[in-house]
Amino acid sequence: MTDATRFLEGQVAVVTGASSGIGQASAIALAQRGAAVLVNYAHDEDGAEETVRRCSDLDARAVALKADVSREDEVRAMVAAAVEAFGAVDVMVANAGIQKDAAFTDLTLADWNAVLAVNLTGAFLSMQEAVRQFRRQGRRSSRALGKIIAMSSVHDVIPWAGHVNYAVAKAGLAMLVKTAAQELASEGIRVNAIAPGAIATAINRDVWSDETKSAALLELIPYGRIGEADDIGEAVAWMASDAADYMTGHIMVIDGGMELYPAFRDNG
Ligand code: BGC
Repeated sequence: MTDATRFLEGQVAVVTGASSGIGQASAIALAQRGAAVLVNYAHDEDGAEETVRRCSDLDARAVALKADVSREDEVRAMVAAAVEAFGAVDVMVANAGIQKDAAFTDLTLADWNAVLAVNLTGAFLSMQEAVRQFRRQGRRSSRALGKIIAMSSVHDVIPWAGHVNYAVAKAGLAMLVKTAAQELASEGIRVNAIAPGAIATAINRDVWSDETKSAALLELIPYGRIGEADDIGEAVAWMASDAADYMTGHIMVIDGGMELYPAFRDNG
């Protein structure tokens, strides 16, 4: 009998930036539903191996692969490696992201470029190569020809002082997703994004690990808790599935209410 919880059995996912945080949780959530996962990482090999181990513990096939998503040749090699290992790519989770924060006039061109390169160009390249692969392999076991899930942020709409490179990259990513979705829908390719709020991962450890800063952060979250990476991983698994087959061009906000203008609770 088939196991209904393993609704991604036979599917292959590539998750970029899967050595920690949201990428790691996404890889594990996909593996739990039976998908084979290529675990991409940029630097943290140990983290990627840990992700692979946790996927294997769930009886899913997984391999780690180092690639810098801002480099076209490395992105091509990453998708080729997934095809080599698992025979296809059905799901691309363009998750890899970095922050290099600075006040507006202190932000160096190098740090502006670095964040745009990974968070926006990296997503573009990952999505583009995935689409080429979807076309090459043709329709497989899911209703869609292929599925793309990009990791945006509440900062695709919420301006963020001291993080202009990051906010601009995420705003661009939101339009990248919508435009690609419009262009690719007729081929049966679904392109969606998740916009997480404050999720406790390495990227914002300085905030949630500090009592004063995390209390201030909680003021921005009506639901009253900082998110966990699994809150996002679960949505990734669902978005990748046929249950979400009619969804494309959507940016799903998962933020405990952060985008609900919480400052207006007792003001305005
Ligand atoms: C950022 C986090 C931040 C959160 C809410 C995310 O996109 O990466 O550092 O805590 O947005 O502001």
